[in-house]
Amino acid sequence: MSPGGRTLVSDTPYTTNNAGIPVESDEHSLSVGPDGPVLLQDHYVIEKMAQFNRERVPERVVHAKGSGAYGFFEVTNDVSQFTKADLFQPGKRTEMLARFSTVAGEQGSPDTWRDPRGFALKFYTEHGNYDMVGNNTPIFFVRDSQKFQDFIRSQKRHPATGLRNNDMQWDFWTLSPETAHQVTWLMGDRGVPKSYRFMNGYSSHTYMWVNRGGERFWVKYHFKTDQGVDFLTQAEADELAGSDADRHRRDLREAIESGNAPSWTLYMQIMPFDEAPGYRFNPFDLTKVWPHSDYPLIEVGRMVLDRNPEDYFVHIEQAAFEPSNLVPGIGPSPDKMLLGRLFSYPDAHRYRIGTNYAQLPPNRPHSVVSSYAKDGSMRYEPANTARPYAPNSYGGPAADTARFGEIAGWASAGEMVREAYTLHSEDDDWGQAGTLVRKVLDDAARDRLVSNVSGHLKDGVSRPVLDRAVQYWRNIDKTVGDRIAKEVNGG
Ligand code: NDP
Ligand code: HEM
Repeated sequence: MSPGGRTLVSDTPYTTNNAGIPVESDEHSLSVGPDGPVLLQDHYVIEKMAQFNRERVPERVVHAKGSGAYGFFEVTNDVSQFTKADLFQPGKRTEMLARFSTVAGEQGSPDTWRDPRGFALKFYTEHGNYDMVGNNTPIFFVRDSQKFQDFIRSQKRHPATGLRNNDMQWDFWTLSPETAHQVTWLMGDRGVPKSYRFMNGYSSHTYMWVNRGGERFWVKYHFKTDQGVDFLTQAEADELAGSDADRHRRDLREAIESGNAPSWTLYMQIMPFDEAPGYRFNPFDLTKVWPHSDYPLIEVGRMVLDRNPEDYFVHIEQAAFEPSNLVPGIGPSPDKMLLGRLFSYPDAHRYRIGTNYAQLPPNRPHSVVSSYAKDGSMRYEPANTARPYAPNSYGGPAADTARFGEIAGWASAGEMVREAYTLHSEDDDWGQAGTLVRKVLDDAARDRLVSNVSGHLKDGVSRPVLDRAVQYWRNIDKTVGDRIAKEVNGG
């Protein structure tokens, strides 16, 4: 008999405390007699209670509800004339991690709420981690990182009621016309994917690629789902939000478990460096796409997700993606949102999961780390530098400037200002949204758009925000705007 009163078979693993010491009971606290007071010296019960109280880390301030898996990326086409990044060289196969997410909802929120979806990828390359932290949309709501916090607050809960509030959403959107393209996208079919497997992923931002000769290109990433794009209607999404809130997490897990590994094909749009200033749209404006007819898609490779995490918290909750993880051959662009994001993510990780988050299993590079960082809370890998400073004369690492030291940058000079981007010839806030409504959607998709928008506006949006919303839609497309006006104004 064990001290807890149960008979153990000899090969059953025995319980220990966190120090590996066998415990006396899984079920009974140490007390003075069976009915007596519980003793403070029962350090095992105290350890259990204390550990439990600390099980949570703060959830991500955005993209809190997610799902992820490991897999690989393999190159299928030679794009070495555009980039020297090792993961995109011919024949290369690179281990990777993906995390998909909703944006505004909390950890327990339903997977089928209308929202963009995060599409975050971490590639464990020979030259460190490359993170492509995109969304399932090729564009975004705002074009300056200064407005991101305001935008997110308008999507989250009202401070007084603790409730999501459509009035806040439309108030912000209608006062920020640059949101029109992304709002049109969101309110259409792609605003609720059938599951994570049935959506595309986009870098949204423009990045820079640099080849071995130092030639620079502006690029956009398009990961197209090999499962085909599919969506849920508003009614289907609403039903699932109640009956199976974790539908998309479950779908990804079960697909991989049953050997049905989902995959995506990566295509790039590539713009020669010197074409940017004269292009008809500002190529760095995150609210715009580059029409395919201007920059056709070039195939690069295939990503396959074939391994579920063995522990969700360890591998997915502690995954730390950061757009600043750019490897040699890949750089940022003058997109003001992207430049803001380069700061924001590592800062969020230090707060959420600690100073040494880069040493956690999902974040640990598969290549050599010879950084001069040292110490800090929860550090468990010793520094691998001979002396903790550079330069040193004891064989410590030195930046290989000849091999990796080039800056993926661009010329910049001028007065410091707080101003919007300089407009290119066809830049405006409504044009590409209108193209989406008129040229991409068919009649049935347009009907669903009108119905989704009207349903949303009828749910708690008050005047004058409602009037502004009708005008917003008329600016995007007169006919669709008139139809929405009829729906919300009752004829
Ligand atoms: P194209 O006709 O070449 O491209 C239209 C693209 O729209 C399709 O390739 C598809 O992108 C995407 N699409 C199809 N159905 C929907 C939908 N219901 N909701 C959102 N997107 C959909 O034209 P352009 O390249 O000139 O773009 C026209 C408009 O299409 C843009 O204003 C933009 O709103 C939208 N779009 C453009 C993309 C681009 O990178 N050029 C990407 C996605 C949308 P995909 O093949 O990526 O699924
Ligand atoms: C998550 C900030 C714009 C995609 C996050 C997080 C922060 C953040 C703080 C939480 C990180 C964490 O705790 O792990 C910002 C800021 C933005 C911005 C300041 C604008 C300036 C964008 C854009 C995209 C995007 C434009 C897509 C193109 C994501 C994704 C995640 C995320 C996918 C979840 C990553 C994961 O799965 O862990 N963002 N974001 N964000 N963001 Fe952004």
